[in-house]
Amino acid sequence: MSNNSYKTILAIESSCDETAAAIVIGNGKSGAQVKSNIIASQIAIHAEFGGVFPDLAAKEHVKKIIPTIELALKEAGLWNGNAIDSLQNIDAIAVTNGPGLIGSLLIGVNAAASLALLSGKPLIKVNHWAGHLYSVFIEDEAPELPMLALTVSGGHSSLILIKNHFDFEIIGETVDDAAGEAFDKIARMLELGFPGGPMVSKAADEARSKELVLEHKFPRPKLNDKDFDFSFSGLKTAVLYALNSGKISLPADASQAAREAEESIVEVLVKKTIRAAQKFQPKSIALVGGVSANKFLRQELTAVVNSLSDKKPKLYLSDLAYSTDNAAMIGAAATFQLAQGKDILQDPEEIEAIASLRL
Ligand code: KG4
Ligand code: ZN
Repeated sequence: MSNNSYKTILAIESSCDETAAAIVIGNGKSGAQVKSNIIASQIAIHAEFGGVFPDLAAKEHVKKIIPTIELALKEAGLWNGNAIDSLQNIDAIAVTNGPGLIGSLLIGVNAAASLALLSGKPLIKVNHWAGHLYSVFIEDEAPELPMLALTVSGGHSSLILIKNHFDFEIIGETVDDAAGEAFDKIARMLELGFPGGPMVSKAADEARSKELVLEHKFPRPKLNDKDFDFSFSGLKTAVLYALNSGKISLPADASQAAREAEESIVEVLVKKTIRAAQKFQPKSIALVGGVSANKFLRQELTAVVNSLSDKKPKLYLSDLAYSTDNAAMIGAAATFQLAQGKDILQDPEEIEAIASLRL
């Protein structure tokens, strides 16, 4: 890039079970450009356990982190024969420092801090939630602020108002399980396998295409409450109760039950988002986080936003490549942090991995 307000970032993400690295270019005004986006997924390894096994995740990150970073540099055309020389082609290193599994976070944080020390490049610490929020700040146009973001993943479900860059207000969040966690647990109960979200979604789509409906209804937790909080643990209990009482039997009712569970989660998420939009009148609405990959949720939110009358906010659905954990979104957030001077460490040794980091 000739314009030197554009910066090239090497971004690293290892908060859960994906080892990821990306090269992202941006000026912190328009959307960031992704030059490479490498993800070494551990899904096959954890499938056996039906969930992410933290010790194994950390061990895998150790194995994958350096090859993943090298590949990100190579695919972006920045490889100079070795990693240290190649780092002279970038302006800064960004890394997720929380929230997440501590053993996983530490691998990415230590790799990033070491590379920053060796190359003399500044280190930018990025909050994983901020990364998900900035997944819609990729490509040409950046959403106008204020933006209301439905942030739904395995670890969190919240409605966040972004008033200005890095001026976030959490206007509602889950009081118990996150939406992705509910998908994962319900998938396990319905014996649909791992990873739960995509499996429930696939089974639910199948039921919809065959017009199969579960007679027994699951609750829509907190649907009519005035607040913007969510609760999904009751839904999980309702599925368990239906199984134990014989109201649903497996495998015969699995896809209908998946459909009913998905429709319950989506109805609550969409209705609360729209109600928040009517109250806070944002210019943009975003759907981000792993659960934003859910097809039915994308369809329903799009339909409801389109049906709004005047002063319709513009809807941004995170691209599927940037919905579940990835490093491009961390790099995108970092381009905006660089422009705002936020969390840029001149001394890489100052960085800390924090499992329960808040936004
Ligand atoms: O953002 P993410 O990759 O990791 C966290 O930060 O948690 O989100 C992972 C979550 C998992 O719970 C997974 O089941 C869910 O996102 N997920 C989905 C879909 N794809 C991933 N949930 C519903 N439908 C999907 N298609
Ligand atoms: Zn995530």
